[in-house]
Amino acid sequence: MLPTIEWKGDAVVMIDQRKLPASEVYVSCRTAAEVARAIRTMVIRGAPAIGVAAAMGIALGMRKSRATGTKQFVTEFQKICDLMAGTRPTAVNLFWAIDRMKRACAAAAQAGGSVAELRQRLEAEALRIHDEDVASCRAMGAHGATLVPDAATILTHCNAGALATAGYGTALGVIRAAVEQGKRVAVLADETRPFLQGARLTAWELVKDGIDTTVITDNMAGAMMRQGSVDLVVVGADRIAANGDVANKIGTYTVAVLAKEHRIPFYVAAPISTVDLDTPDGSRIPIEERAAREVTHIGAARLAPDGARVRNPAFDVTPASYVTAIVTERGIARPPYIESLAALVGIRQPAAS
Ligand code: MRU
Repeated sequence: MLPTIEWKGDAVVMIDQRKLPASEVYVSCRTAAEVARAIRTMVIRGAPAIGVAAAMGIALGMRKSRATGTKQFVTEFQKICDLMAGTRPTAVNLFWAIDRMKRACAAAAQAGGSVAELRQRLEAEALRIHDEDVASCRAMGAHGATLVPDAATILTHCNAGALATAGYGTALGVIRAAVEQGKRVAVLADETRPFLQGARLTAWELVKDGIDTTVITDNMAGAMMRQGSVDLVVVGADRIAANGDVANKIGTYTVAVLAKEHRIPFYVAAPISTVDLDTPDGSRIPIEERAAREVTHIGAARLAPDGARVRNPAFDVTPASYVTAIVTERGIARPPYIESLAALVGIRQPAAS
């Protein structure tokens, strides 16, 4: 698997997800502003990957900072954190990663660290966030694979794969783990209008791994379920509220309603960094509205006439009552989520070395 994002010391390098699958092009970001632009313009996307990119962008910005004293260093650091926080509003992993960087900086500053020590601490924290994400995906995969029967056809929406994380994936991590256990699995990948993460990215990843993949347009999912062609659904998440409501790519709610109607299990796979206990329910989750052009055009080709109004909410909220279970790296949460999620979040983790 090609790496989604890499720390190169003087640059952060990411595969340009806007260009896949037609071309495998890498973008080299040399400043924090370039990383922020890459997040905003979806060179890199997917909740955990956005968090990793922001952390690396902050570390990069502070590596390039000319600050000589800690006071000036911390002022510049705050500005870069604000820049990253303004890139995309829905995925809570972004804010979670920025918080981790803030705590790392504060701890080093409190300990009387020099500017060089603060830089080093931030770099180490960004790399730790990256590595922990891969480990989380692997653990999530192991838990989630227990929910996948042999010879299952799994429907997924958007891309919650290696490209959306530091590697391996959340929803696609569950699928990969099931395949690694020797289960026969076929995947139905919703194309995921308007950005086409399913057709372009999920299908690209899975085909590369030799996993049986069929791309369908979003409006085919209901008919497939009615025909008995779907055994389970597994999707990722951008933010999970304390009550288990799930924000994910626009169209996820439609899939969840269809799954319930057809008595098909609907699973969400996400790391604990996606669980936001400070947000009581889905109505409080900010939903990003993106540019009209993503809807009116495919590439350079215009589909809709000039003058038509356009809506482009990038995410929707699936109420907890539609979610069969939430797979995390710490185990599987079942309803009532207000209790099961709080219990998983509260599990004490070994202290970082
Ligand atoms: O707009 P995107 O492509 O960043 O949206 C991505 C999704 O909605 C994913 O399903 C979600 O981030 C989970 S990724 C493991």
